[in-house]
Amino acid sequence: MMVCEYKPGLEGIPAAQSSISYVDGQKGILEYRGIRIEELAAKSTFIETAYLLIWGELPTKEELAAFEEEVRLHRRIKYRIRDMMKCFPESGHPMDALQASAAALGLFYSLRDLHNPAYIRDSVVRLIATIPTMVAAFQLMRKGNDPVKPRDDLDYSANFLYMLNEKEPDALAAKIFDICLILHVEHTMNASTFSARVTASTLTDPYAVVASAVGTLGGPLHGGANEEVIQMLEEIGSVENVRPYVEERLQNKQKLMGFGHRVYKVKDPRAIILQDLAEQLFDKFGGDKYYDIAQEMERVVEEKLGHKGIYPNVDFYSGLVYRKMGIPTDLFTPIFAIARVAGWLAHWKEQLAENRIFRPTQVYNGKHEAPYIPLEQR
Ligand code: CMC
Repeated sequence: MMVCEYKPGLEGIPAAQSSISYVDGQKGILEYRGIRIEELAAKSTFIETAYLLIWGELPTKEELAAFEEEVRLHRRIKYRIRDMMKCFPESGHPMDALQASAAALGLFYSLRDLHNPAYIRDSVVRLIATIPTMVAAFQLMRKGNDPVKPRDDLDYSANFLYMLNEKEPDALAAKIFDICLILHVEHTMNASTFSARVTASTLTDPYAVVASAVGTLGGPLHGGANEEVIQMLEEIGSVENVRPYVEERLQNKQKLMGFGHRVYKVKDPRAIILQDLAEQLFDKFGGDKYYDIAQEMERVVEEKLGHKGIYPNVDFYSGLVYRKMGIPTDLFTPIFAIARVAGWLAHWKEQLAENRIFRPTQVYNGKHEAPYIPLEQR
């Protein structure tokens, strides 16, 4: 067997061959199926982009209408799932609630028919359609309210915001939210996608695939960073405090949340678009003092860490966008998951098409021939 050098974090080691997305970390380019995200953000919708990623091509008018309709018709969740969610502690994190609910779908749809394209499509539709409903339902139930039913007359993003806030959203806010989903839907072989592919490679069901990816996305080094960015901006509190805060953290060898990326060595192209979206919201609904702090922080961090290629990543400005929409901080990562589920499912489908179970090796650095010491002598 070929022996490879051990790389912590598997840095630089390809885990799959994939045609779903592409990143150039030096030039700050991200493409989905070859199309630049700037173009998709300006011209597409989340549902169309999800279709593109999963089936490989932009849909025709008829294909798009059919997919939108299928997703629309599957937005409702079973009352038993809702009742199960009612038993979740309200103090629990919504990502844990989402992981448990996504896994529970597998109990209700236990038929597994991975070679059947109709099964693949049904599972894709069900997951994309119900994940937002589950996120919104947990939010209302933890406040002691009944979840509201999805509204079939609203588009995907407008319906989610309606279910979350119990009122029809502003049109600009709904459009911007949809663009945020496009920006978060896919990003090559990141930790949660790797997790999805490893789980998929065992030929388990797609609900287990998504549940394992949701669990991986939640950590502060991955999707959870967007929450921590807001907490960090709150802790800093004023523009004057930015420099001393950054200097102190760097002195203590602590990370600055929302900065740095394994692949990007320039400003993340998604952060550039998100910053613009935040500004559009501020223009319409009024500014946010945390935006001034964030801009100053970007300047100071560039000055201190730019030479190491550390710039804002996708999580730095997304929280400011969601905050302006009145979304609670601990829902930022579940919203990331609402988008990313389509990326995970694209990888699930790709993995199944050429599956081999993941079974990496390890570098053993433990003992050999160790004696068994009897309990009374230890
Ligand atoms: N603040 C300060 N220093 C940093 C940061 C940061 N945010 N990120 C990297 N560095 C430094 C790090 O200290 C190290 O320095 P040195 O070589 O002197 O020891 C060097 O840069 C390499 O860092 P690393 O942690 O080995 O890099 P990595 O590729 O393993 O980690 C990362 C990538 C995203 C986990 C890391 O940059 C980080 O922890 N960032 C903060 C958390 C964050 O914002 N995560 C969101 C990532 S993007 C969206 C997503 O994945 O969901």
